[in-house]
Amino acid sequence: MTYDAKEHWENIYQTKKSNEVSWHQKKPKTSLNLISGINLDKGAKIIDIGAGDSKLVDNLLAVGFRNITVLDVSSNALNRVKKRLGNRANDVKWIVSDLMEFKTNNRYDLWHDRAVLHFLTEEEEINRYVERVRQLLKPNGYLIVSTFSENGPKKCSGLYIKQYSEDSMKKLFSGFEHIKSFEEEHLTPWGDSQIFIYGLFKEVIKDESRRFRLYC
Ligand SMILES: C[S@@+](CC[C@H](N)C(=O)[O-])C[C@H]1O[C@@H](n2cnc3c(N)ncnc32)[C@H](O)[C@@H]1O
Repeated sequence: MTYDAKEHWENIYQTKKSNEVSWHQKKPKTSLNLISGINLDKGAKIIDIGAGDSKLVDNLLAVGFRNITVLDVSSNALNRVKKRLGNRANDVKWIVSDLMEFKTNNRYDLWHDRAVLHFLTEEEEINRYVERVRQLLKPNGYLIVSTFSENGPKKCSGLYIKQYSEDSMKKLFSGFEHIKSFEEEHLTPWGDSQIFIYGLFKEVIKDESRRFRLYC
């Protein structure tokens, strides 16, 4: 990472309201549709990586999910969501950390990332990201990842990003089963068009010795 992520993102959530950032969604419908399509048990462990002040958690709580972890490098972002949720915030696990550094013994049924992976621009850190997903997903766990597409912007929040296509996303997560991917237009609060690509993958461990190593 070629910038100080903590400083950058704390400042963004300190100085901008929810609907003053390009990635704002009134309701994260596409993520919710993908999640409802994979038929997770309501007790499934879900982690939203780099969640910011997204309303994904509000909506997941509303449909009955009860094992949700929300992670972001910015405490300002998570405090905003906690305030919005009121008492319901007690039903969520909150982690303020860089996604590369947080420590947990938990393994997740779903890793959700909208507009975070694309900030990683160096091969080494992108590979570490994939390894993190591998470490933290349960066997048969799902990955939903969404980035700017090759038809989308080159920058987000003033930072250069890495764009993905279906092929490059499939290549990056080649150790996972690819279920589907598609592009989608997102309109910023001020009406600009941004093309995202979503990917849905499944962790399928073929190497039993690896599974053993993960769980020991
Ligand atoms: C473009 S915003 C997307 C927020 C949210 N996922 C959404 O869809 O509304 C990117 C988010 O990733 C967080 N972020 C960026 N780099 C991170 C990192 N290395 N570790 C954890 N969070 C990070 C930022 O604080 C910010 O909230």
